[in-house]
Amino acid sequence: MSLPKDNKDSIPEPTKGLEGIVAADTNLSSVNGEKGILRYCGFNIDDLALDTTFEETICILYDYELPTEDRLSEMTKNIGEARVLPDEVVEVITKLVGKTSPMSTLRTVVSALGHYEKNVPLSELAPKALRLVGQIATAVAMIHRLREGLPIIKADPERGHAEDFLRMLHGDEPSKIQINALNLYLILLADHGFNASTFSARVTAGTLANLHSAITSAVGTLSGPLHGGANEKAMDMILEVGKPENASEYIENAFNNKQKIMGFGHRVYKVDDARRIHLKNMTELVCKENGNMEIYRTAEEIERQVRKRKSIITNVDFYSAPLLYELGIPTDLFTPLFAMSRVAGWTAHVLEQYKNNRLIRPRARYVGQIDRTFTPLQHRSEKRF
Ligand code: ACO
Repeated sequence: MSLPKDNKDSIPEPTKGLEGIVAADTNLSSVNGEKGILRYCGFNIDDLALDTTFEETICILYDYELPTEDRLSEMTKNIGEARVLPDEVVEVITKLVGKTSPMSTLRTVVSALGHYEKNVPLSELAPKALRLVGQIATAVAMIHRLREGLPIIKADPERGHAEDFLRMLHGDEPSKIQINALNLYLILLADHGFNASTFSARVTAGTLANLHSAITSAVGTLSGPLHGGANEKAMDMILEVGKPENASEYIENAFNNKQKIMGFGHRVYKVDDARRIHLKNMTELVCKENGNMEIYRTAEEIERQVRKRKSIITNVDFYSAPLLYELGIPTDLFTPLFAMSRVAGWTAHVLEQYKNNRLIRPRARYVGQIDRTFTPLQHRSEKRF
């Protein structure tokens, strides 16, 4: 960028979008973009995806360790008991549903939940954070039930988080495959380095604002179509394409019109998104169980057509979309579902930030005019633009 000649601000050129900038240390997740590897506290996501639950993933993110059987049961019980909302917050949801998007309602709910929590010292913050993990799932299910005019289904703390969420949402018993599929989704999206929403949570926590303020920032940041909102748009595209035979023409047109194809491209991953293959395989399984392989084949063909034309990777949002769709999740709940998983990482990052805090405060390079002449209001001409 060329600066005005008289600009004396000697701050170096910024890196647009902070690409490649390392903003802090973390012990939570590591993303190896060159090799396509994601690890939570050192444990490869490929291992976690095969044989764990969302609750076990939370144990890892909160304790930096694999849980014992007792710790896991305690975590499962605590999250189960946390899937309850204060009556006043249910009223807030009732007032908002149908008037605003589920993601906006969720952002307001997270903020409202903060009013029902006491200030506690850092050493006692983890149970409060965990409560939010439980409450977000209940809020998402409730947003759906209330807007459909359906009765609210109370949480069953004896059940696992994924199973209970599906039951609270749909009102019937989910199948084993459905429970596994949602667990997988929740595990895979739980944390991902300094993605935009996690970063915004840490910036907010870095001012020593409270936990609910930090998570409210994160929910707002996740909602954008370049981040968590991409899954909804990816599903709209898959449905619009409709069948595999239409994919080539659709993608050709999209590239010709310089459109961004949702669910593709990533700032960090260069070869593959570590989560893609697990989501893809699970989507195939769920589509098979539902007898709806057309959705899966259409998604697969879109992916083939995009990759044929441009070397951009398929990101987590692409196969998340048909997976959630086949679990009967309405498209506008996809991003809230993302929040339901990522809240595990957000809260773990906020706890980590508080433990070793320093205000996060970068600088901006000023590129506007300087030394301009100030004219008092009464002497300004009316037309200034
Ligand atoms: N479709 C078409 N072209 C793309 C796409 C895409 N989805 N993504 C990147 N590109 C192209 C850009 O046009 C650009 O091409 P050029 O160099 O020829 O001009 C190049 O790849 C680099 O793209 P940028 O947008 O500069 O990459 P950036 O790192 O800033 O953005 C992002 C990453 C936002 C994810 C981008 O790839 C994108 O907009 N993707 C679509 C939205 C999406 O799927 N978001 C979810 C991301 S994952 C997550 O947040 C959970």
